[in-house]
Amino acid sequence: MNKVIIFDTTLRDGEQAPGAALTSEQKLEIAFGLEKLGVDVIEAGFPIASPDDFNAVQTVARMAKRSAVCGLARCLKQDIEAARDAVKDAEHPRIHIFLATSKIHLKYKFQKAEDEILALAKKSTRLARNSCADIEFSPEDATRTNKDFLYRIIEAAIKEGAGTINIPDTVGYSYPQEVYVLIEDIFNNVPNINKAVISIHCHDDLGMAVANSLSAVSAGARQVHCTINGIGERAGNASLEEIVMALKTRKDAFKNLKTSINTKEIYRTSRLVSNLTGFVVAPNKAIVGRNAFRHEAGIHQAAVIKQRTTYEIMNPKDVGIGASELVLGKHSGRHALLKRLKELGVKLNKEQTDDLFKRFKELADKKKEVFDDDLIALVEEETRHIRKIYELISVRVTTGTDIEPQAFVKIRHKRKIYEQESSGDGPVDACYKAIDRITGIKAKLLNYKLDAITKGKDAQGMVRVELQVKGNIFPGRGASTDILEASVKAYLDALNKIAS
Ligand code: KIV
Ligand code: ZN
Repeated sequence: MNKVIIFDTTLRDGEQAPGAALTSEQKLEIAFGLEKLGVDVIEAGFPIASPDDFNAVQTVARMAKRSAVCGLARCLKQDIEAARDAVKDAEHPRIHIFLATSKIHLKYKFQKAEDEILALAKKSTRLARNSCADIEFSPEDATRTNKDFLYRIIEAAIKEGAGTINIPDTVGYSYPQEVYVLIEDIFNNVPNINKAVISIHCHDDLGMAVANSLSAVSAGARQVHCTINGIGERAGNASLEEIVMALKTRKDAFKNLKTSINTKEIYRTSRLVSNLTGFVVAPNKAIVGRNAFRHEAGIHQAAVIKQRTTYEIMNPKDVGIGASELVLGKHSGRHALLKRLKELGVKLNKEQTDDLFKRFKELADKKKEVFDDDLIALVEEETRHIRKIYELISVRVTTGTDIEPQAFVKIRHKRKIYEQESSGDGPVDACYKAIDRITGIKAKLLNYKLDAITKGKDAQGMVRVELQVKGNIFPGRGASTDILEASVKAYLDALNKIAS
């Protein structure tokens, strides 16, 4: 097979990253983005974990048209049944079952012998296969598993109907040569291996997840588990964008292998995941970091102007980053906006375009230069599916170094306008207290974070908050050139999720 199947686990392993909890709506938004990006499989969650997780997997399963939708299950009847029910409405449903096989896991997690684990793997694969045609089996901690046992369990899982065998480097312990030999050994020692696709799943504890995944591909693996921006449990998973661009850029080294990814969607998807999880992408992150295509040294700049390929091995356009950063200003018309949105790969309906144009003009009035990132932030606000139960009409704050901050907030709720004022420990606290008086919702502010979306003194600020109600966490975000307005928008965004 000359194609590498891209199995995206942003919504499952990615969401296991501490602090990355996503609501069902956010998961659906990311799933839309993943389909557009062209991933082959979306692992949408772990249905037995909670009713929320079940709903999220089911919602994604009902939405996805092209990508297969997968639910994770332990080798337990109730897990497999929950996964089966959650994915059954998908065009292409898949159940992914996993069972630890390393000595250390057998001894401390299960207190079971290898033969008992083997029997459980067989029984569970059979059970899963009876309710779903597409089964993936993962021997968890495979890279630390005794090889003979690994071969036996893989052979058994294939015999019971697993079409994909995934090899997890669960604790990110392996290194590229070792992974290569492991995959090669599996091909040489599992008699029925040609009946299954071999997949690889790497964690980044030693910073080798992408290198290990590519090494597995070189040895014959034809599916890679990965996440957008490499988010995931602990140090994260192998990053989708790095794997895909490595395969594309180094076709010579990877036997011309293809993926189904529309690479021009990479940057947008990366931004979407970063915004929804609140995980800021490091500026030096390969492919999608702010500096990934910027040249600082004069010698480099001069050479790139003469011939881009002197210092650029990839074309930024190929990952959806516009060739020019500066795009529009207050004199730009609808035509220019539409042209730029098209270049950025954004598709909106007529109503969304009208609204976006209005908001673009408002922004351009406040800000001299409107950059791609500003536009993307506007588009993300426009295309989100969050009901506006509470909507900001206006906010006014008096503050200073020698007075107590005082906020006046006006909000629309069910067509009525409510107004409240409050003092607070700072201007943001005063705004939030005034809003609390209007909504009556008792939520604890767990996190507040402010970042500049672009450069310059007039840059828009992006505020991200996390509110907690009865143990559940609701993220919210808001952007504006005025950081108090952005703060209020973010707070209302989270409250809207609580009230939905
Ligand atoms: O890291 C891991 O082993 C996993 C499995 C569930 C595949 O995420
Ligand atoms: Zn994992």
